[in-house]
Amino acid sequence: MARSMIRDVFKKETKTAELWGWVKRKRDFKGTLIWLLRDGSGEMQCVLSSENILDKKAYEAARKALMESSVEVEGKVKSDERAPGGKELQVEKVHIIHAGEEFPIGKDLSEEFLLDVRHLWLRSTKMQQGMRASACVFEAFHDFCKKDGYLEVQCPMFVSGAVEGGNELFEVEYFGKKVNLTQSSQFYLEVYAHALEKVYTVAPSFRAEPSRTRRHLTEFWHAEWETAFSGLEDLLNWNERMIKHMAKYVLEKAPAQLDYFGRKTEQLEKVVKQKFERLTYDEVFEVAQKKFPELKWGDDLQEAHEREITKDYDVPVMVHHYPTILKPFYHRPDPQRMDTVLCCDVLAPEGYGEIVGSGERCWKYDELIGRMKEANLKEIDYQWYVDLRKYGSVPHTGGGLGLSRLTMWLFKMEHIRDTVGFPRTMNRVAP
Ligand code: 4AD
Ligand code: MG
Repeated sequence: MARSMIRDVFKKETKTAELWGWVKRKRDFKGTLIWLLRDGSGEMQCVLSSENILDKKAYEAARKALMESSVEVEGKVKSDERAPGGKELQVEKVHIIHAGEEFPIGKDLSEEFLLDVRHLWLRSTKMQQGMRASACVFEAFHDFCKKDGYLEVQCPMFVSGAVEGGNELFEVEYFGKKVNLTQSSQFYLEVYAHALEKVYTVAPSFRAEPSRTRRHLTEFWHAEWETAFSGLEDLLNWNERMIKHMAKYVLEKAPAQLDYFGRKTEQLEKVVKQKFERLTYDEVFEVAQKKFPELKWGDDLQEAHEREITKDYDVPVMVHHYPTILKPFYHRPDPQRMDTVLCCDVLAPEGYGEIVGSGERCWKYDELIGRMKEANLKEIDYQWYVDLRKYGSVPHTGGGLGLSRLTMWLFKMEHIRDTVGFPRTMNRVAP
């Protein structure tokens, strides 16, 4: 017999099956052993009765096998209402591939311990569902960009210089020189956009942020794009279309994961159908200040402010025209209102906060140099970025989406670490 995947056994009308997998749970009654077997596609109840299995030595080995041992089983597929999914395998042949040691993960273990044994905890239902949810979100972004005519490009991770700001940079030793891990691929995408117009990349970004919140990682997967011949209005439309597409995509492709994490599909259907609110910083500032009187114009919006701003909305809020002093030098000030920039942060509702940072770039040489002087930055440190403004520069926009942040909100997850296999935080780089 050839191996079948559990998912297919449930889908097809097969009478017999050979399965390979791991013993997720086991119960031992007199003469009958019940396993919940899992493979990469699903889980199935397997019943091992000493009467059906002729090889008594094999049956004894199966009885002794501890949780998470890897096994091969073969037998008859029977319908049984009591079995999860309505089918079970009545095992006739069993072989232990590897008898595992006592599995260290039981019930009610602390979050810290589960992070220590992440290499084993990844087998849990929660982590598996988290990985499937996350994979669906990555896929959705690629799908949107491809359908919209964007070309996928790659940018370096070793860089010299900051994009988002100097104090969140990781320094690494590079053949006797100090270089940095990239905070964002934006500047490289701007270069690509002058060659290919519509480009995107999905890559890690690194931030030495000492924040210990449920939405910060020091290494996160960043989906970034850049569009030539584009202004703020185009960008706002792009952001809205992209997020709607992502919501629609997970509704179609990941209903099991939405259900598992408790996201009601009606909520995402609203995201697909309803128009996103577009508000200026001035407008949201007024809302936030009513609740937080100490907030001053020009202050950055913290998690609590974002929560207040989005509390009356079911769908993301797109905040544009932030104060110029608040945003990095590459953002283009609005010629009608120089104290604000042509940028847009997308805030997810329910306290999930900022998921996208985006904006029109300073594309004129003099304007960029002016902004750099204000920020005390030296032209020499940004030589090629500035140089780009000398040869057929065009208005262009782009942005960055935190894929883990989006996954968290779409699936209503509690913590960003549920979206990544090996989260990197301030005090953890292992496993
Ligand atoms: O707002 P940010 O810092 O914007 C940029 O990096 C731009 N250069 C992007 C661009 O225009 N190409 O980061 C963009 C998004 C945030 O909105 C957030 O979703 C996510 O990246 N992000 C993080 N996600 C997890 N952990 C962190 N420490 C994050 N920092 C930012
Ligand atoms: Mg930001």
